[in-house]
Amino acid sequence: MSDIENIAKQIVPKGKGILAADESTGTMTKRLSSVNVESTLENRLKFRETLFSADGMKNYIGGVILYDETIKQKTSYGKTIPDLIKSLGAIPGIKVDTGAKKLAGSPDEKITEGLDGLRERLAEYYKLGARFTKWRAVYNISDKYPSELAIKSNAHALGRYAALVQEAKMVPIVEPEVLMDGEHNINKCYEVTIKVLKECYKELTLHNVNLKGTILKPNMILPGNKSKDKSNTSEIAKMTLKCLKESVPNEVPGITFLSGGQTEIEATQNLNEINKINNTNFTMSFSYGRALQQSALKNWAKDIKDTNKTQKIFNHRSKMNGLSTSAKWSMDLEKQLTT
Ligand code: 13P
Repeated sequence: MSDIENIAKQIVPKGKGILAADESTGTMTKRLSSVNVESTLENRLKFRETLFSADGMKNYIGGVILYDETIKQKTSYGKTIPDLIKSLGAIPGIKVDTGAKKLAGSPDEKITEGLDGLRERLAEYYKLGARFTKWRAVYNISDKYPSELAIKSNAHALGRYAALVQEAKMVPIVEPEVLMDGEHNINKCYEVTIKVLKECYKELTLHNVNLKGTILKPNMILPGNKSKDKSNTSEIAKMTLKCLKESVPNEVPGITFLSGGQTEIEATQNLNEINKINNTNFTMSFSYGRALQQSALKNWAKDIKDTNKTQKIFNHRSKMNGLSTSAKWSMDLEKQLTT
C-alpha cells in the first residue's frame, strides 16, 4: 500500500472522524460575533487550542483540518499546533482552497479558487506537518441551478487540486457540497448530488488521481431547509446510501460527511442511522465543523477561562459522533452529559 493510501486509512479509523476547524478568518469572525466575542488572532487561537487539547481528541478524532493562520500558530506553552494535534494521535490537515467566488458566465453560482501557486503552498504545508488537505466546492439548488457550467468547472478544479495534492504526497479530501438552502425536496437533493459526484469522479479519473488515496466529504441527502416536506432519519440514511452507492467508485476508502447546517443532534443521529444500514464497503464517518463546535463555542463565550466545561462539551459531542460511526449512538447516551 502506498503512503497516501495508508494516510487515508489512518485519518478515519473505526470509531473516529475529522474535526473541521478550518474556518477562514471571515467565517470564524461570523461564528465569534454570533456569541459576542471579538475575532482577534488571540481569541481564534484560544478557542481552537481549547478544543485541540481536549481528551475527546484522543479517542474520537483521527484528523483535524486547519486554516492557514492556525497551522502556523503555537500554543500558549510554545508547542506548534500541528505538534499538539499529533501528540493526541490525530493527523493535521489543511484547507487549501481560497474560497468560493462568483462564477463568470453564471454569476449567481460559485467557483472555488486557489489553484494558482498551489504546488508551492502544498510544499510549505507539508513542511509544517500537514498530511491531508481539503478543497470545498459549493452548489446551490434552485429551478435553474446548479448549471452544467458550475458542475463541470468545479469538478475540473477538484480534479486539478487532487492531482496536485497527491503529487505533494498528501491525501486530498474532495468536498463537493450541495447546499441545503432552499425549498427543494429530498429527491431533488438526491438527483443533484448524484450528478455532481459523477462529474467529480470523471475529473478525478481524468487527472489520474489514485482514488484509494482520497477521501470524499459529501453532504447527506436532505430536503432543503425551507422545504415543506420533512424527512425522517431513516429516509435520509436510505437516500444517502443509495446516492453514494450509485456515484462513488469502490476504491474510495472513506466518506466523511459535512454537517452543512444540520443541528448537532441531527448530524449525529443521521450518521448513526447511515451506519446502522450501511451495506457498502465505505467507512462512513464525520468531518464536522459546526456540528462538533457549536455548543462548545457557546459555552466558551460565556466564560473563556472555564476551559474544563468547554472541553467537556466538546468531548461529549466527539464521543456521540464517534459512537455514531459504529451505529452505537442513542438518545439516552446523548442525554448523559448533564447527569
Ligand atoms: P460544517 O460541518 O459546519 O458544514 O463544516 C464542514 C466543513 O468543513 C465545510 O467546509
